[in-house]
Amino acid sequence: MSCRRIVLLGPPGAGKGTQAAAIVRDLGIPHISTGDMLRAAVKAGTEIGLKAKAVMDAGELVSDEIVIRIAEERLSQEDAKNGFLLDGFPRTLSQAEALEGILDRLGTKLDCCLALTVDTEAIVKRLLKRAEIEGRADDNEDTIRERMRVYERETAPLLDFYRERNLLIEVSGMGTVEEVGERIREALR
Ligand code: AP5
Ligand code: MG
Repeated sequence: MSCRRIVLLGPPGAGKGTQAAAIVRDLGIPHISTGDMLRAAVKAGTEIGLKAKAVMDAGELVSDEIVIRIAEERLSQEDAKNGFLLDGFPRTLSQAEALEGILDRLGTKLDCCLALTVDTEAIVKRLLKRAEIEGRADDNEDTIRERMRVYERETAPLLDFYRERNLLIEVSGMGTVEEVGERIREALR
């Protein structure tokens, strides 16, 4: 497979985390999720966690400065040398531009941006179901809808950003986990 430096893009609940698990297992690359890292920071009560908690609970974006720093530190680690899957980063145009700079400094570049496309109502249902199972603080209907609005406003423009760079691969995120996984494997081949 030629895509080993991957940005996984998609609205909240599109299945990024779910599909990332299988992709990183297949490719033997690290899964870098800024959402997971921020939730770990909140849980550990670090300075970043304290700053991020209220913003995340409201479904808004943590500052570019904080997430860019987190991403740069993680991408600079040894295990990311031969590939990585970024999940939930970049999420704004500034973050996308910062990522180009980071990879430039590391002497590498992205191979592709895999974008999961989904139907909004279906993902509200998915996230409300996850709320019952995992109890994530931002999985209530109001916050889910706010996360969707933030996605449309801040993150959806990245589709054009990566399309212009000929890196965009769009895959439907609808259907079962297995069906989506198979489409992704096909697309990454
Ligand atoms: P983040 O953790 O990235 O959350 P998100 O983008 O809102 O996405 P989710 O994790 O909710 O969904 P997912 O696409 O991973 O779907 P999943 O596989 O879990 O970010 C959280 C917050 O952190 C942000 O709001 C922000 O505050 C902050 N943050 C993070 N990164 C940031 C950044 N770069 N800049 C600024 N702030 C940042 O699936 C969802 C559910 O559906 C699961 O229960 C799953 O089991 C189920 N499911 C998955 N696939 C299917 C399927 N095919 N059929 C049925 N159910 C399915
Ligand atoms: Mg996720």
